[in-house]
Amino acid sequence: MLRSLVTAVVAATLIAPGLHGAFAQERFSIFVGSAQENVDRMIRLAELRDDDVVIDLGSGDGRIVLTAAKANHRLKGWGVDIDEKLVIQSNAEAKKSGVSDRVQFYQRDVFDADLRGATVITMWMWPEMQRMLRTKILTEATPGTRVLTNIWGMGTWAPDKVDELDNSPVHLWIVPARIEGYWTWELPLDGVKRMYSGVLEQQFQKAEGVVRVDNRRGVLDKMTLRGADIQFTLGMTVGDAGFVTHTFSGKVQGNEIMGTVKLQRVVNEETVNTELPWRATRASQSAYFAPTGVSPTQPPETPKPAKKP
Ligand SMILES: C[S@@+](CC[C@H](N)C(=O)[O-])C[C@H]1O[C@@H](n2cnc3c(N)ncnc32)[C@H](O)[C@@H]1O
Repeated sequence: MLRSLVTAVVAATLIAPGLHGAFAQERFSIFVGSAQENVDRMIRLAELRDDDVVIDLGSGDGRIVLTAAKANHRLKGWGVDIDEKLVIQSNAEAKKSGVSDRVQFYQRDVFDADLRGATVITMWMWPEMQRMLRTKILTEATPGTRVLTNIWGMGTWAPDKVDELDNSPVHLWIVPARIEGYWTWELPLDGVKRMYSGVLEQQFQKAEGVVRVDNRRGVLDKMTLRGADIQFTLGMTVGDAGFVTHTFSGKVQGNEIMGTVKLQRVVNEETVNTELPWRATRASQSAYFAPTGVSPTQPPETPKPAKKP
Protein backbone atom coordinates (compact mmCIF):
# COMPACT_ATOMS: atom_id res chain seq x y z
CA MET A 1 0.00 0.00 0.00
CA LEU A 2 2.72 2.39 1.07
CA ARG A 3 4.64 1.52 -2.09
CA SER A 4 1.71 2.46 -4.35
CA LEU A 5 1.30 5.73 -2.45
CA VAL A 6 4.96 6.59 -2.85
CA THR A 7 4.76 5.67 -6.56
CA ALA A 8 1.79 8.00 -6.94
CA VAL A 9 3.51 10.91 -5.25
CA VAL A 10 6.78 10.39 -7.17
CA ALA A 11 4.93 10.08 -10.48
CA ALA A 12 2.94 13.24 -9.79
CA THR A 13 6.13 15.08 -8.92
CA LEU A 14 7.69 13.96 -12.19
CA ILE A 15 4.63 15.02 -14.16
CA ALA A 16 4.37 18.44 -12.57
CA PRO A 17 7.66 19.23 -10.80
CA GLY A 18 7.14 22.00 -8.29
CA LEU A 19 3.63 22.76 -9.58
CA HIS A 20 1.65 22.02 -6.42
CA GLY A 21 -1.17 24.24 -7.62
CA ALA A 22 -1.42 21.96 -10.65
CA PHE A 23 -2.71 19.17 -8.38
CA ALA A 24 -5.86 21.24 -8.11
CA GLN A 25 -6.43 20.63 -11.83
CA GLU A 26 -8.51 17.52 -12.21
CA ARG A 27 -6.43 16.08 -15.07
CA PHE A 28 -3.35 15.75 -12.85
CA SER A 29 -4.76 12.94 -10.70
CA ILE A 30 -2.84 9.97 -12.11
CA PHE A 31 -3.66 6.27 -12.24
CA VAL A 32 -2.50 4.16 -9.33
CA GLY A 33 -4.90 1.37 -8.43
CA SER A 34 -6.19 1.07 -4.86
CA ALA A 35 -4.66 -1.93 -3.09
CA GLN A 36 -7.10 -4.84 -3.47
CA GLU A 37 -7.18 -5.17 0.33
CA ASN A 38 -8.45 -1.58 0.55
CA VAL A 39 -10.99 -2.13 -2.22
CA ASP A 40 -12.34 -5.08 -0.20
CA ARG A 41 -12.47 -2.96 2.97
CA MET A 42 -14.32 -0.15 1.16
CA ILE A 43 -16.84 -2.66 -0.14
CA ARG A 44 -17.34 -4.13 3.32
CA LEU A 45 -17.88 -0.64 4.76
CA ALA A 46 -20.45 0.11 2.02
CA GLU A 47 -22.63 -2.88 3.08
CA LEU A 48 -23.72 -3.47 -0.51
CA ARG A 49 -27.36 -4.15 -1.34
CA ASP A 50 -29.04 -5.74 -4.36
CA ASP A 51 -30.54 -2.44 -5.55
CA ASP A 52 -27.28 -0.48 -5.29
CA VAL A 53 -25.81 1.55 -8.13
CA VAL A 54 -22.08 1.80 -7.41
CA ILE A 55 -20.05 4.43 -9.24
CA ASP A 56 -16.33 5.09 -9.12
CA LEU A 57 -15.13 8.61 -9.92
CA GLY A 58 -11.77 8.21 -11.65
CA SER A 59 -12.26 4.47 -12.10
CA GLY A 60 -8.75 3.60 -13.37
CA ASP A 61 -8.72 -0.07 -14.39
CA GLY A 62 -12.24 -0.48 -12.95
CA ARG A 63 -11.23 -2.59 -9.99
CA ILE A 64 -13.61 -1.04 -7.42
CA VAL A 65 -16.81 -1.36 -9.45
CA LEU A 66 -15.76 -4.78 -10.79
CA THR A 67 -15.06 -6.05 -7.27
CA ALA A 68 -18.43 -4.71 -6.09
CA ALA A 69 -20.25 -6.42 -8.98
CA LYS A 70 -18.56 -9.72 -8.15
CA ALA A 71 -19.41 -9.34 -4.45
CA ASN A 72 -23.11 -8.76 -5.20
CA HIS A 73 -24.58 -10.35 -8.32
CA ARG A 74 -27.54 -8.00 -8.61
CA LEU A 75 -26.16 -4.51 -8.14
CA LYS A 76 -25.34 -2.26 -11.07
CA GLY A 77 -22.35 0.01 -11.47
CA TRP A 78 -20.37 2.29 -13.69
CA GLY A 79 -17.18 4.25 -13.64
CA VAL A 80 -15.77 7.30 -15.36
CA ASP A 81 -12.16 7.99 -16.17
CA ILE A 82 -10.46 10.67 -18.21
CA ASP A 83 -8.04 8.11 -19.69
CA GLU A 84 -9.51 6.37 -22.75
CA LYS A 85 -7.14 3.39 -22.57
CA LEU A 86 -8.17 2.62 -18.98
CA VAL A 87 -11.85 2.85 -19.95
CA ILE A 88 -11.37 0.36 -22.82
CA GLN A 89 -9.40 -1.95 -20.50
CA SER A 90 -12.11 -1.75 -17.80
CA ASN A 91 -14.95 -2.54 -20.23
CA ALA A 92 -12.94 -5.50 -21.57
CA GLU A 93 -12.44 -6.77 -18.02
CA ALA A 94 -16.18 -6.37 -17.29
CA LYS A 95 -16.93 -8.51 -20.34
CA LYS A 96 -14.34 -11.13 -19.38
CA SER A 97 -15.80 -11.32 -15.86
CA GLY A 98 -19.36 -11.74 -17.18
CA VAL A 99 -20.68 -8.52 -15.59
CA SER A 100 -20.84 -6.22 -18.64
CA ASP A 101 -24.67 -6.32 -18.56
CA ARG A 102 -24.51 -4.61 -15.15
CA VAL A 103 -21.26 -2.66 -15.27
CA GLN A 104 -20.01 -0.09 -17.79
CA PHE A 105 -17.18 2.42 -17.96
CA TYR A 106 -17.18 5.77 -19.76
CA GLN A 107 -14.52 8.23 -20.76
CA ARG A 108 -15.61 11.38 -18.97
CA ASP A 109 -14.36 14.08 -16.64
CA VAL A 110 -15.48 13.27 -13.10
CA PHE A 111 -17.08 16.71 -12.82
CA ASP A 112 -19.40 15.79 -15.72
CA ALA A 113 -20.62 12.55 -14.12
CA ASP A 114 -24.33 12.47 -13.28
CA LEU A 115 -24.45 11.44 -9.62
CA ARG A 116 -28.21 11.45 -9.20
CA GLY A 117 -28.80 7.72 -9.70
CA ALA A 118 -25.90 6.56 -7.52
CA THR A 119 -26.45 4.91 -4.14
CA VAL A 120 -22.70 4.28 -3.55
CA ILE A 121 -19.93 6.60 -4.76
CA THR A 122 -16.29 5.59 -4.45
CA MET A 123 -13.12 7.50 -5.28
CA TRP A 124 -9.41 7.73 -4.75
CA MET A 125 -8.06 10.93 -6.21
CA TRP A 126 -5.75 13.62 -4.98
CA PRO A 127 -7.05 15.29 -1.80
CA GLU A 128 -7.67 18.54 -3.70
CA MET A 129 -9.75 16.67 -6.25
CA GLN A 130 -11.76 14.94 -3.52
CA ARG A 131 -12.26 18.29 -1.79
CA MET A 132 -13.61 19.78 -5.03
CA LEU A 133 -15.81 16.76 -5.65
CA ARG A 134 -17.26 17.12 -2.15
CA THR A 135 -19.18 20.17 -3.34
CA LYS A 136 -20.57 18.25 -6.33
CA ILE A 137 -21.49 15.25 -4.19
CA LEU A 138 -23.27 17.30 -1.52
CA THR A 139 -25.20 19.21 -4.18
CA GLU A 140 -26.10 16.42 -6.60
CA ALA A 141 -26.12 13.07 -4.81
CA THR A 142 -29.35 11.80 -3.30
CA PRO A 143 -29.42 12.04 0.52
CA GLY A 144 -28.50 8.66 1.95
CA THR A 145 -25.91 7.92 -0.76
CA ARG A 146 -22.85 6.21 0.78
CA VAL A 147 -19.53 7.76 -0.23
CA LEU A 148 -16.28 5.83 0.22
CA THR A 149 -12.72 6.97 -0.27
CA ASN A 150 -9.40 5.26 -0.08
CA ILE A 151 -6.75 6.88 2.18
CA TRP A 152 -7.70 10.57 1.87
CA GLY A 153 -10.73 12.37 3.23
CA MET A 154 -12.77 15.34 2.09
CA GLY A 155 -11.59 18.36 4.06
CA THR A 156 -13.68 19.27 7.10
CA TRP A 157 -16.55 16.92 6.24
CA ALA A 158 -15.88 14.32 8.95
CA PRO A 159 -16.56 10.72 7.89
CA ASP A 160 -19.39 8.79 9.51
CA LYS A 161 -17.10 5.74 9.79
CA VAL A 162 -13.39 5.06 9.31
CA ASP A 163 -11.65 1.71 8.96
CA GLU A 164 -8.15 2.62 10.15
CA LEU A 165 -6.28 -0.64 9.49
CA ASP A 166 -2.46 -0.24 9.30
CA ASN A 167 -2.51 3.54 8.81
CA SER A 168 -4.25 3.01 5.50
CA PRO A 169 -7.74 4.28 6.26
CA VAL A 170 -10.84 3.86 4.17
CA HIS A 171 -13.73 6.20 4.93
CA LEU A 172 -17.51 6.20 4.73
CA TRP A 173 -19.86 9.19 4.58
CA ILE A 174 -23.63 9.25 4.30
CA VAL A 175 -24.76 12.21 2.16
CA PRO A 176 -26.99 14.30 4.44
CA ALA A 177 -30.20 15.97 3.31
CA ARG A 178 -30.07 19.75 3.16
CA ILE A 179 -32.11 20.93 6.08
CA GLU A 180 -30.58 24.32 6.87
CA GLY A 181 -33.23 27.07 6.92
CA TYR A 182 -36.72 27.86 8.14
CA TRP A 183 -39.41 25.22 8.63
CA THR A 184 -43.00 25.46 9.86
CA TRP A 185 -45.49 22.88 11.01
CA GLU A 186 -48.78 22.71 12.88
CA LEU A 187 -49.80 20.36 15.66
CA PRO A 188 -53.30 20.11 17.15
CA LEU A 189 -53.17 20.15 20.95
CA ASP A 190 -56.44 19.97 22.87
CA GLY A 191 -58.31 20.94 19.70
CA VAL A 192 -56.18 24.06 19.13
CA LYS A 193 -53.78 24.17 16.17
CA ARG A 194 -50.36 25.39 17.30
CA MET A 195 -47.92 26.78 14.77
CA TYR A 196 -44.26 25.77 15.25
CA SER A 197 -41.61 27.95 13.56
CA GLY A 198 -38.28 26.12 13.44
CA VAL A 199 -34.86 27.40 12.46
CA LEU A 200 -32.45 24.61 11.54
CA GLU A 201 -28.70 24.96 11.17
CA GLN A 202 -26.39 22.38 9.61
CA GLN A 203 -22.72 21.56 9.18
CA PHE A 204 -22.70 18.54 6.88
CA GLN A 205 -24.37 15.73 8.89
CA LYS A 206 -24.36 17.72 12.15
CA ALA A 207 -27.58 19.62 12.69
CA GLU A 208 -29.24 21.64 15.44
CA GLY A 209 -32.11 24.01 15.74
CA VAL A 210 -34.51 26.16 17.73
CA VAL A 211 -38.27 26.65 17.54
CA ARG A 212 -40.96 29.12 18.51
CA VAL A 213 -44.56 28.31 19.46
CA ASP A 214 -46.73 31.35 20.24
CA ASN A 215 -44.44 33.59 22.28
CA ARG A 216 -42.22 30.84 23.70
CA ARG A 217 -38.96 29.64 22.23
CA GLY A 218 -37.19 26.33 22.77
CA VAL A 219 -34.17 24.32 21.69
CA LEU A 220 -34.55 21.28 19.43
CA ASP A 221 -32.49 18.70 21.31
CA LYS A 222 -30.62 15.52 20.35
CA MET A 223 -30.94 16.22 16.63
CA THR A 224 -29.60 13.49 14.35
CA LEU A 225 -29.47 13.57 10.57
CA ARG A 226 -28.54 10.42 8.69
CA GLY A 227 -29.14 10.77 4.98
CA ALA A 228 -32.77 11.90 4.75
CA ASP A 229 -33.72 10.67 8.24
CA ILE A 230 -34.05 13.36 10.87
CA GLN A 231 -34.89 13.03 14.56
CA PHE A 232 -34.98 15.45 17.48
CA THR A 233 -36.76 16.14 20.74
CA LEU A 234 -38.34 19.24 22.22
CA GLY A 235 -39.56 19.86 25.74
CA MET A 236 -41.56 23.06 26.18
CA THR A 237 -44.77 24.54 27.50
CA VAL A 238 -47.28 24.91 24.67
CA GLY A 239 -50.18 27.27 25.44
CA ASP A 240 -52.82 25.77 27.76
CA ALA A 241 -51.62 22.23 26.98
CA GLY A 242 -48.86 22.67 29.56
CA PHE A 243 -45.39 21.13 29.33
CA VAL A 244 -45.14 18.76 26.37
CA THR A 245 -42.25 16.43 25.55
CA HIS A 246 -42.11 15.98 21.76
CA THR A 247 -40.10 13.31 19.90
CA PHE A 248 -40.02 14.05 16.18
CA SER A 249 -38.86 11.63 13.53
CA GLY A 250 -39.24 12.00 9.78
CA LYS A 251 -37.80 11.86 6.30
CA VAL A 252 -36.64 14.96 4.46
CA GLN A 253 -38.00 15.09 0.92
CA GLY A 254 -36.83 18.34 -0.64
CA ASN A 255 -38.92 21.10 0.93
CA GLU A 256 -40.97 18.75 3.10
CA ILE A 257 -40.38 16.56 6.12
CA MET A 258 -42.90 13.75 6.59
CA GLY A 259 -42.99 11.67 9.73
CA THR A 260 -44.52 11.34 13.16
CA VAL A 261 -44.28 13.08 16.51
CA LYS A 262 -44.74 11.35 19.85
CA LEU A 263 -46.14 13.62 22.54
CA GLN A 264 -45.98 13.05 26.26
CA ARG A 265 -47.58 15.24 28.92
CA VAL A 266 -49.18 15.04 32.32
CA VAL A 267 -52.97 15.57 32.45
CA ASN A 268 -54.74 15.33 35.83
CA GLU A 269 -51.59 13.77 37.29
CA GLU A 270 -51.62 11.02 34.62
CA THR A 271 -48.95 10.66 31.92
CA VAL A 272 -50.62 10.80 28.50
CA ASN A 273 -48.82 9.55 25.38
CA THR A 274 -50.06 10.31 21.88
CA GLU A 275 -48.63 10.00 18.39
CA LEU A 276 -49.51 12.33 15.53
CA PRO A 277 -48.49 12.67 11.91
CA TRP A 278 -45.85 15.38 11.42
CA ARG A 279 -45.49 17.35 8.21
CA ALA A 280 -43.06 20.27 8.13
CA THR A 281 -42.58 22.53 5.15
CA ARG A 282 -39.73 24.85 4.25
CA ALA A 283 -40.52 28.55 4.58
CA SER A 284 -38.85 31.61 3.11
CA GLN A 285 -39.33 33.63 6.32
CA SER A 286 -39.60 32.63 9.94
CA ALA A 287 -41.99 33.81 12.64
CA TYR A 288 -39.23 32.79 15.06
CA PHE A 289 -37.77 36.28 14.69
CA ALA A 290 -41.04 38.24 14.98
CA PRO A 291 -41.22 40.65 17.94
CA THR A 292 -42.61 39.21 21.17
CA GLY A 293 -43.35 40.30 24.68
CA VAL A 294 -44.75 43.75 25.20
CA SER A 295 -47.89 44.40 23.19
CA PRO A 296 -47.69 47.57 21.08
CA THR A 297 -51.09 48.67 22.47
CA GLN A 298 -49.68 48.70 26.01
CA PRO A 299 -46.72 51.03 26.11
CA PRO A 300 -44.34 50.49 28.99
CA GLU A 301 -45.18 52.48 32.10
CA THR A 302 -43.52 55.88 32.26
CA PRO A 303 -41.13 55.79 35.24
CA LYS A 304 -42.33 58.05 38.06
CA PRO A 305 -39.90 60.77 39.15
CA ALA A 306 -38.10 59.88 42.35
CA LYS A 307 -39.53 61.53 45.48
CA LYS A 308 -37.47 64.33 46.88
CA PRO A 309 -35.98 63.36 50.21
C1 LIG B 1 -5.52 7.14 -8.13
S1 LIG B 1 -6.39 6.53 -9.55
C2 LIG B 1 -7.66 5.60 -8.80
C3 LIG B 1 -8.22 4.51 -9.66
C4 LIG B 1 -9.32 3.68 -9.04
N1 LIG B 1 -10.42 4.50 -8.58
C5 LIG B 1 -8.81 2.89 -7.87
O1 LIG B 1 -9.02 3.31 -6.72
O2 LIG B 1 -8.16 1.85 -8.12
C6 LIG B 1 -7.20 8.03 -10.12
C7 LIG B 1 -7.83 7.90 -11.49
O3 LIG B 1 -8.53 9.09 -11.77
C8 LIG B 1 -8.44 9.38 -13.15
N2 LIG B 1 -8.68 10.82 -13.33
C9 LIG B 1 -7.88 11.84 -13.01
N3 LIG B 1 -8.46 13.01 -13.26
C10 LIG B 1 -9.69 12.72 -13.76
C11 LIG B 1 -10.78 13.50 -14.19
N4 LIG B 1 -10.73 14.81 -14.16
N5 LIG B 1 -11.88 12.89 -14.63
C12 LIG B 1 -11.94 11.52 -14.68
N6 LIG B 1 -10.95 10.74 -14.28
C13 LIG B 1 -9.83 11.31 -13.80
C14 LIG B 1 -7.04 8.95 -13.52
O4 LIG B 1 -6.93 8.68 -14.90
C15 LIG B 1 -6.89 7.70 -12.65
O5 LIG B 1 -7.24 6.54 -13.35
